Amino acid sequence: MRSDRPAVAVVGATGAAGGTLVRILGERAFPASALELYASARSAGRRVSTYLGDVAVRELSGDALRGADIVFFAAGAATSRRHAPGVADAGGVAVDKSSAYRMDPAVPLVVPEVNAEQLGRHRGIVANPNCVTIPLSIVLAPLQRAYGLRHVTAATYQAATGAGIGLADELDAQTRDDAAGTMPTATVYPHVLHGNVVPGGWAMQGADTEEEVKVIAETRRVLDAPDLRMSVTTVRVPVTIGHSAAVWAELDADADPDDVRTLLRESPGIVVVDDPASQRYPMPRAVAGTDDVQVGRVRRDTGTENGIALFFSADNLRKGAATNAVQLAELLLRDR
Ligand SMILES: NC(=O)c1ccc[n+]([C@@H]2O[C@H](COP(=O)([O-])OP(=O)(O)OC[C@H]3O[C@@H](n4cnc5c(N)ncnc54)[C@H](OP(=O)(O)O)[C@@H]3O)[C@@H](O)[C@H]2O)c1
Repeated sequence: MRSDRPAVAVVGATGAAGGTLVRILGERAFPASALELYASARSAGRRVSTYLGDVAVRELSGDALRGADIVFFAAGAATSRRHAPGVADAGGVAVDKSSAYRMDPAVPLVVPEVNAEQLGRHRGIVANPNCVTIPLSIVLAPLQRAYGLRHVTAATYQAATGAGIGLADELDAQTRDDAAGTMPTATVYPHVLHGNVVPGGWAMQGADTEEEVKVIAETRRVLDAPDLRMSVTTVRVPVTIGHSAAVWAELDADADPDDVRTLLRESPGIVVVDDPASQRYPMPRAVAGTDDVQVGRVRRDTGTENGIALFFSADNLRKGAATNAVQLAELLLRDR
C-alpha cells in the first residue's frame, strides 16, 4: 500500500455488494483521499451520496483505475479478470469480491478473523471469499483449532440479495403481486421466490450447484484444510438480507456443547444467541445491518461420533461481502 491516505475506487458501486461497501467505508471513516465510483454504462452519471460528498458514477473503461491505490471490485468475475491485473501492475491493490481469483494460489483468500496472516503475501490482488464461506469459516475455525474437524455438513438458507439487487427487487414485486392476488412472475431467478424455497438457481457443476462447489473449495482454503470432508446443499429462501446455515461438524475429539458456546463466545466476529427455550436463536432479521455472525442451537449431534450441530446467520452484504473487504483494506493500511 503506497499511501496512508489512499485514493479509493469502487467498481460495481451501484450494486447490492458495492453499494453496501460505499456505505461501510463511510461508517468506518476509511481514510481515503479520494473516492471514485464505477459501474456499467447503464448507471453512468448517477449520483451517489458518500461520506466524501456526492460522487457521480462513471462507466468503467480503459485504464481509468490506474491512479487508484485501492480498488474494490464488486461487479462480477469477468470485470475483475479484465481490470484487476492492471490495478496490480500500476502499483495499487485490488480487493476483489468476485469469484475470479479465489482459487488462484498466488492470490490470498482472506477472512481477517481466521487467516489474516495470509494477507502479507499479496502481489496486488486480494480475494474475498463467498458470502457463505466467510461466516462458515469464522464459525469453524475455533472448532478446528480446539477439537479438529473431521467432516462438516451444511445446508444453507440464502437471501435474495446474495444474487444481487435484481433478485431482491423481483422478490419485492412478487410479494406485492401475491398480496394483490396477482400471479407473481420470475425473470431474474428460474422460479418465483416469494412463498417458496429453491434448492437451485446457480449454474450447475455436474450434480452440484456452483455455490456448493465454491463453499467447499473456499472453506478448505481459508481453513488451510485441503482434505477436509465437506457436504453442502445451498438453498435460496425468500429473505431479503441475511444468509443462514444449519451446520453439523464431526470433530476429532468429544466437545461439550457448553464448552463450544464458551469457545465461540470468545472468538472474534461471533455473537452467541442460544436460548431456544426462550425462542432466542440466530435469524436473518436479527443480523441484517450488523457485522456479527450470530451462532445458536449449539447441541450434540447424536447421529455421529463427536458431533456438534449449530445454526448461524450473518448479513451477506456486510460481513459476507463489504465489511470483510473493508477490513482487508484496513489491514493493508495498518501493515504498510
Ligand atoms: N450480493 C452479495 O451478497 C455478494 C456477496 C459476496 C460477493 N458478491 C459479489 O459481488 C459482485 C457483485 O454482486 P452483487 O450481488 O452486488 O450484484 P448486483 O447487485 O447485480 O450489482 C452488480 C454491479 O456491477 C456493475 N456492473 C455490471 N457489469 C459491469 C461492467 N461490465 N463494468 C462495470 N460494472 C459493472 C453493476 O452496474 P450497473 O448498475 O451499471 O448495472 C452493479 O453496480 C459479484 O461478483 C458477487 O459474486 C456479492
